Amino acid sequence: MHLAVFTQCSPSPQFKGMWRDPQDRSAEGYKRLAHWTALAQRLEAACVDTLFFADVFGLYDVYQGSWAPAVRHGVQVPMIDPTLLLPAMAAVTEHLGFAVTYSTTYHQPYHAARLFSSLDHLTGGRVGWNMVTSYLRSAAENGMGEFLDHDVRYDRADEYVEVVRALWEDSWEDDAVVRDAASDTFTDPDRVHEIGHAGKWFAVRGPHQCEPSPQRTPLLFQAGASARGIDFAARHAEVVFLTLADPETGAKKVAELREAAARAGRDPQSIKALQGSMTMVGADRDQARARARLYSQLWSGEGQLAKWCGWMDFDIAAYPDDAPVSDIRGQASHSFLDFLRRLSPDREWTVGDIRYIASRPRRARRDAPMMLFGTAEEVADRMEQWLEIADVDGFNLVPCPPSVAIDDICDLLVPELQRRGMFRTAYDPAEGTQRERYFGAGVHHYPKGVR
Ligand SMILES: Cc1cc2nc3c(=O)[nH]c(=O)nc-3n(C[C@H](O)[C@H](O)[C@H](O)COP(=O)(O)O)c2cc1C
Repeated sequence: MHLAVFTQCSPSPQFKGMWRDPQDRSAEGYKRLAHWTALAQRLEAACVDTLFFADVFGLYDVYQGSWAPAVRHGVQVPMIDPTLLLPAMAAVTEHLGFAVTYSTTYHQPYHAARLFSSLDHLTGGRVGWNMVTSYLRSAAENGMGEFLDHDVRYDRADEYVEVVRALWEDSWEDDAVVRDAASDTFTDPDRVHEIGHAGKWFAVRGPHQCEPSPQRTPLLFQAGASARGIDFAARHAEVVFLTLADPETGAKKVAELREAAARAGRDPQSIKALQGSMTMVGADRDQARARARLYSQLWSGEGQLAKWCGWMDFDIAAYPDDAPVSDIRGQASHSFLDFLRRLSPDREWTVGDIRYIASRPRRARRDAPMMLFGTAEEVADRMEQWLEIADVDGFNLVPCPPSVAIDDICDLLVPELQRRGMFRTAYDPAEGTQRERYFGAGVHHYPKGVR
């Protein structure tokens, strides 16, 4: 089983309002290296596979047609650039892997290729790229590129991946760097190649600027579950973040992903599926309930609305309560609304429903959708069900409330999983790169023939 832990480089990752907890350290800590290096060491001591940084470019400005609610409630703003933290965290750890989000819409592929090769060198092959197409228009209004429609963004992203992979895989031969002092040759130019890419969206001549890094292609992560998103994942991704409601209905989505991989000519099991779950664990039931109460008390309904409107690309404040959601089609995340609809497929969802759900904290229950809640034993039981029924390969744990949940995961949940033999008690020293952590010792490189 694989475990990733979710975070963001902003106050109280994911759960709005939680920075108000007096125990919170994230509001100050997110901009301090010591906060991040301590987190990396903590997760490494718990043998976690991956620290995952979600990230966006731009501000959430859809709700009420303004960025003010997002700024007021700290909805992924203020936020710093996560890529800069990785070398510092790698310097104080040996095994922990990192996955960092980087947009195919708002950054150029030549730049992305150099950035990720640099990170792969500096982390000793422990970097992963969460390939996202981005859902906020506001970045485009700041000169970062063009905000295209949902499916077109994925079309462009397909070509983007083709370009960066050509730079990583085809540009420099393994033995290009010769360092031959006698002939004053650092690199043999005959073993370095242009990629000559001229496509619909990009013209990139190459060569790549970096020599091959330990993994060459960083471990490729993906998160986006619309039909087009699954198609994109099936073509390129090695690890997929899913947000499934429950093991029974989730099994269908995982099967869809694996079938799509088979259609793309890949081994269906060569994609690792990680279920994303809000994770609230207590030493006993009373403490678990206390965590849930704390989360509810600190909850910021307006912050959540600002976030959801950004995810959906429509302003909930601009519609009457009885407006059917199916009549509104934004260009941000399609899978998010589809997900809500699947929770209750027999009725017509309205704007009022969305407003109601968004503005209230979620009720903590052991079998609540997308939630791992309870004592460590109860959560481990639920995780076993997920693994058996849904055919997932692990979890992307979203710690809640963020002020205490990292400790709860490391001190309560992981030891229980280890007691059951569900999770490693030490890293395998033969697995040096992050790809090896997921696919076994010796598997440094992206599988051949997958393009
Ligand atoms: C677990 C998870 C994490 C995500 N993290 C990010 C992120 O950090 N940044 C981002 O721009 N999009 C993120 N997304 C959004 C997706 O990458 C995608 O752009 C969005 O869901 C729209 O695509 P879809 O309609 O195919 O789902 C995430 C989605 C999921 C499910």
